[in-house]
Amino acid sequence: MGRKFFVGGNWKCNGTTEDVKKIVSTLNSGQVPSADVVEIVVSPPFVFIPFAKSELKPQFQVAAQNCWVKKGGAFTGEISAEMLVNLGVPWVIIGHSERRAILNETNEFVGDKVAYALSQGLKVIACVGETLEEREAGTTMQVVAAQTKAIADKITSWDNVVLAYEPVWAIGTGKVATPAQAQEVHAELRKWLETNIKADVAASTRIIYGGSVNGSNCKELGGQQDVDGFLVGGASLKPEFIDIIKAAE
Ligand code: G3P
Repeated sequence: MGRKFFVGGNWKCNGTTEDVKKIVSTLNSGQVPSADVVEIVVSPPFVFIPFAKSELKPQFQVAAQNCWVKKGGAFTGEISAEMLVNLGVPWVIIGHSERRAILNETNEFVGDKVAYALSQGLKVIACVGETLEEREAGTTMQVVAAQTKAIADKITSWDNVVLAYEPVWAIGTGKVATPAQAQEVHAELRKWLETNIKADVAASTRIIYGGSVNGSNCKELGGQQDVDGFLVGGASLKPEFIDIIKAAE
């Protein structure tokens, strides 16, 4: 398969200057596997990106947690893809379920955002995931397939896309998906890519899991055939993030 393990840390809307200094120091002093074993991307809030990027060791790449859907301009409060490229930020998280729910980001809007970010040279962690109601209704695959299709319809290459499956009911709840639940959806997503895009895209695209990943559950989750890594929230702010990264070994 040859998919390099990928661990993302989504700091969300958290931290002070002091907190960020401590997190950066913890990451820089952590013994993590080499860059040919694992790709590590941490995503601070916008205001801490320049500091984190300047202080982190090179193995820790940086991502923004969002970017605007088109070229910058009269869009008060937004951060454009061009600004991130200008800052030397290589990655951006797009379509996180919190933005879909709180800010009503639709599947099509997320697809447009992914396409624009890629067009500006950014690499994208594109998030999909179902709510508890959708899972209990047995519609998980329809939901995540529709979310993935909305992205696929707008892009011409998956080379710079990492797909993050984040069941909404597992985010921030401590109710992590079981390894079997994660593997089932990841395998279905990979099959969707093979059927609807191309076999080599399905084989090479990293599909990572997010939702209450921690130092205790990461090894078994990461050992699943179609789980290529994680997008970690709460635990990425703690020293245990180093243990999660080590799950790549
Ligand atoms: O983007 C990752 C995030 O949604 C997962 O959050 O706190 O459940 O690891 P958490």
